[in-house]
Amino acid sequence: MSARPVDDGDFAAPPGVGGPVLGDTEFEFLRQFVHTHCGISLGDHKRQLVQGRLLRRLRALKLDGFAAYCQLLRSDPDAEMGELASAISTNVTSFFREVHHYDFIANELLPRWLKEKRNGRLRIWSAGCSTGEEPYAMAMVLAEALEKFDGPIDAKILATDLSPQALRTAREGVYPIDRLAGVEEARRQRWFQRGEGSYAGLARVHPRLRELVTILPLNLLHEWPMQHRFDAIFCRNVVIYFDKPTKQRLFARYAQQLVDDGYLFLGHSESMYGLSEDFDLVGRTIYRKRTA
Ligand SMILES: C[S@@+](CC[C@H](N)C(=O)[O-])C[C@H]1O[C@@H](n2cnc3c(N)ncnc32)[C@H](O)[C@@H]1O
Repeated sequence: MSARPVDDGDFAAPPGVGGPVLGDTEFEFLRQFVHTHCGISLGDHKRQLVQGRLLRRLRALKLDGFAAYCQLLRSDPDAEMGELASAISTNVTSFFREVHHYDFIANELLPRWLKEKRNGRLRIWSAGCSTGEEPYAMAMVLAEALEKFDGPIDAKILATDLSPQALRTAREGVYPIDRLAGVEEARRQRWFQRGEGSYAGLARVHPRLRELVTILPLNLLHEWPMQHRFDAIFCRNVVIYFDKPTKQRLFARYAQQLVDDGYLFLGHSESMYGLSEDFDLVGRTIYRKRTA
């Protein structure tokens, strides 16, 4: 068992004195690149931050400067895009973050869904799942509801992100114990296996949760391979970096990817105001797809 911290100190490290400097041409290229491929707008004031955060990538790739890094992005954009995006954005997340969303699913949606979808299919998507806490928390709620439900149902959670590092942690499903702060004691006992010996201080999510969650890489700005529609989509604390047209396009695609009467959950500081006519606000950052 191994685990990496979610947001380690290096993340915000200042640029090293005497290290490579991000010049005008390279910053302009990076700006265009992340806007085109990741929907992220970088203002001039982000230059120092980008330089600081990318120094670690330069070291990891053994590159001597930002010009070489830009050349690598030009020659094979897909290979480095996820690492670049995760270096300049944040993967911060936690179990049961914005707990009212989980309460809404447990108390309002699951009782209805499980009754209506007997013998049917229930699909939830955690879009921008980061290191996995969000889909695994959802899986706890789902697994508990399924235990009380006496009929067959094909229920699954899809968890996607573009950050390869975050997805590695999500797949491992192993977290330092202090990351379980938002999990009630009964759920900690039930849904985590405590590490022992050299794994002391770590907890692994229960195999039942892993069974319910499928983890895949996906850039939300690219084509989506999913054939089926979802009953609910969590896209929380992801669009915060996107510019207005990117958010508009994404919300329109979410509307298409949801069943009629499907739900979209946004992060606490995000809103659909002025960006989409496809949804009604039905709770705190909870939206229901509008039916004609
Ligand atoms: C702050 S975390 C939010 C995690 C979780 N949804 C939550 O609210 O706790 C934002 C995540 O969005 C992901 N992300 C950003 N842009 C993305 C894109 N274009 N496609 C897929 N994931 C993206 C990042 O990699 C990061 O893991």
